Amino acid sequence: MRVVVRVGGSVVGSPLNASLIGRYVDLLKKLREQGHEVVAVVGGGSLAREFIRVAADLGLVEADRDWTAIHVSRLFARLFVLCLGEASCGNVSFTLGDAVDCLKQGNVVVMGGLRPGMTTDAVAALVGERVKADLLVKASNVDGIFTKDPKKFPDAEKLYELGFDDLERLFEEDRHKAGIHQILDPEAVRILRRTRLRTVVVNGFDAKNVLSAVKGERVGTVIE
Ligand code: UTP
Repeated sequence: MRVVVRVGGSVVGSPLNASLIGRYVDLLKKLREQGHEVVAVVGGGSLAREFIRVAADLGLVEADRDWTAIHVSRLFARLFVLCLGEASCGNVSFTLGDAVDCLKQGNVVVMGGLRPGMTTDAVAALVGERVKADLLVKASNVDGIFTKDPKKFPDAEKLYELGFDDLERLFEEDRHKAGIHQILDPEAVRILRRTRLRTVVVNGFDAKNVLSAVKGERVGTVIE
């Protein structure tokens, strides 16, 4: 199976968590050993948001705020490449073309941000579309997709299955803002709708949930 794993910065990097990063590195290696083709897209977490805030305070324009966050996610991605060693291509993939080349070598592709105006959710959706992935797993800091933000509303209910067309209706924010925080960003939702890429959102604090999603077990929220 060709699978994109979107590793939440809010999961492995807010604050930086060496043992969890180690578990994700092992998981990516394991998936590769099992014969899967793997792309990992790592987010920038709270550190990226701190840079966005500082960039804003310094009067930088939106695109430059985004770039600071992109570099943070690429630093996280670099850490993954270093830990993956031989299982990686030795570099972070900065473009979709780089990702395709790395995948052809049979190694784990690692990406951070791509360009301003999106989040790594959209990067994961774009690379998934480009390599014709079978599955996208988002390892997030919640148990799946809820009717409302479960951190703000205690009566939010978890949704176990969703159609691509349900997603847009669910999310009220439809424009990109630096540091936007929504379970799947609006651009990613548009791409997923277009490509019909099966997506599973799981709680990433237990890396095993990603394995379960790849095995097709019932976990998190499935969008198809
Ligand atoms: P991330 O996708 O790095 O967030 O986007 P995150 O913290 O990992 O998300 P979760 O918590 O795991 O879900 C953070 C910000 O980085 C900029 C945007 O400003 C985005 O809001 N960014 C990221 C880009 O502009 N382009 C990219 O390709 C990626």
